[in-house]
Amino acid sequence: MDQSDVAGDIAEILLTEEQIGSKLDEMAAQIDADYAGKDLLLVGVLKGAVMVMADLSRRLHHPAHMDWMAVSSYGSGTKSSGVVRILKDLDADLTGRNVLIVEDIIDSGLTLSWLVANLRSRGPESVEIAAALRKPDAAKVEVDVKYVGFDIPNEFVVGYGLDYAEKYRNLPFVATLAPHVYS
Ligand code: XMP
Ligand code: MG
Repeated sequence: MDQSDVAGDIAEILLTEEQIGSKLDEMAAQIDADYAGKDLLLVGVLKGAVMVMADLSRRLHHPAHMDWMAVSSYGSGTKSSGVVRILKDLDADLTGRNVLIVEDIIDSGLTLSWLVANLRSRGPESVEIAAALRKPDAAKVEVDVKYVGFDIPNEFVVGYGLDYAEKYRNLPFVATLAPHVYS
């Protein structure tokens, strides 16, 4: 198989780089307005949120702080279980902080609902969520997301930080994969 070009692996582009960019403009403007005059700590969830963190944070006029967490959700293959393990914790102390979790995607919601509860237990002033993507039809738990980019169908997607077997994170768009990739 040709490993040099991903074009043949893509089934359909759901969101283009341009669509993502203009949505992030709107989200950043809203975040700027909501956090004006307040301390703001952006918490990116590795590795999927790298792209949205980079692109969203650069659109903010707010001099936000940034920190990172890595969590792993135990589960088989592409399904999340809700049992979460911290692989890399924050450096920042959350006491009295306004935390905005920056995520790539909300699928079942299990990972984020665990994360919100975990961060809320650390004494912050507030904890909110900004997610680039959400799959409403996959929700298993209700997650209160303050800023959401796009609601997408309940299909496995890659690109813009999202991977299949650690590949395709670098694609600038969000896409579904051709069936041959999974076989
Ligand atoms: P839950 O189900 O806990 O899952 O909301 C969130 C995490 O699962 C991963 N995920 C995906 N990764 N394409 C991916 O590459 C997808 O369509 C997808 N859906 C969920 C992702 O790591 C997310 O943080
Ligand atoms: Mg992943």
